[in-house]
Amino acid sequence: MRHPVLAAALIALAALPAMAQHQYKWPAVKNEPARKPFYLPYVQAGTPTSMTVIWRGPKPATPSIVLKTADNQPLQTVNGPAGTEHLFRLTNLTPGTSYRYAAMEDGKVIGEGEFKTNLGPNGKQFRFAVMGDSGSGNANQLSVAKRLEKWGPDFVLHMGDVIYEKGDFEGYGPRYMEPYHTLVANTVVYPTPGNHDYGRGNADGYFRFFEMPRAKPTDTEQWYTFTYGQAQFFSLDTNTKFDKGSPQYQWLERELKASKSPWKFAFTHYPPYTSGEHGSSLYVRRAWGPLFERHNVQVVFTGHDHHYERSLPREDFVKDGSPTTYIVSGGAGAWMRGVKKEPFSAFTQAAYHFIGITMNDRELNAEAIDRGGVVIDKFKVIR
Ligand SMILES: [Fe+2]
Repeated sequence: MRHPVLAAALIALAALPAMAQHQYKWPAVKNEPARKPFYLPYVQAGTPTSMTVIWRGPKPATPSIVLKTADNQPLQTVNGPAGTEHLFRLTNLTPGTSYRYAAMEDGKVIGEGEFKTNLGPNGKQFRFAVMGDSGSGNANQLSVAKRLEKWGPDFVLHMGDVIYEKGDFEGYGPRYMEPYHTLVANTVVYPTPGNHDYGRGNADGYFRFFEMPRAKPTDTEQWYTFTYGQAQFFSLDTNTKFDKGSPQYQWLERELKASKSPWKFAFTHYPPYTSGEHGSSLYVRRAWGPLFERHNVQVVFTGHDHHYERSLPREDFVKDGSPTTYIVSGGAGAWMRGVKKEPFSAFTQAAYHFIGITMNDRELNAEAIDRGGVVIDKFKVIR
């Protein structure tokens, strides 16, 4: 998140009592009719021991946040500096644990949520969702949003083109918070930027809205990595130089080499394998394909083409028995496009959809679910 008047507050919760695992449930968001979804809180950049809660207000106010246990016992109240943009980083949390929070302005609750912290490096069982090319603000986006919310992921990957047409910050009201405000009050969305998010040249709206996981504050937010349980995720920016020798390429190679996670997933906007209208980005394929295959990245998720597609497992560069499967998931709201089927493809369908992925120690099980709730494709990866 980039913003000059960012209000930051740190919470040090020393010696929190160990809390029991809690069944996840969707809370109601209080006072919703009185406040535009654009001004409701959302969670970002979670780690096993921290969570960031962000919101903004229609006028300057003094913010505070009440952190509670999952059964609503208050743990701590922290005040932040007055302003219109509020960011609280909650720290010293327990991994794999549900918490509730109430976001307040001038002592009045303006929104609530419940999140579960990242399981930590030994976490084997979790579920996440994938969606892309969402930000139309129309009924198609809303119908996929409702399905995704009901499916109840632990977190979400967004393939970019978050906001059409130009990625403007103001678009995050009607084209993001209106369809997703309940989901994002409780669930972290990890994005990767699309070409439309860079529609004004520098993706200011995207970087102002989202807070990316970073090892240190000086790290770029254009590309980043995070781990969730036994999986490591790499968000890559195909709008910025990515060929061999570029800072992004060098970073990716270094991070893949250093990764100790048995599951590795990359996500980016331009698809290196697609049967859709835009066609495969051979630049991306030639630059990163060898890295993905050599370092056992099991699945690469992409968007940009507005359909669903799963490739055959690819060993086009490194034939070592550990192939990479490529997914196109550009169907979360933007106008649908026709799709053919290239020889590298296992399945294609023009459908508004998201993907629900369930992980355990040895297996990934994925379902592509359309806006009517129909499973249009299933696939499994065994490691
Ligand atoms: Fe795109």
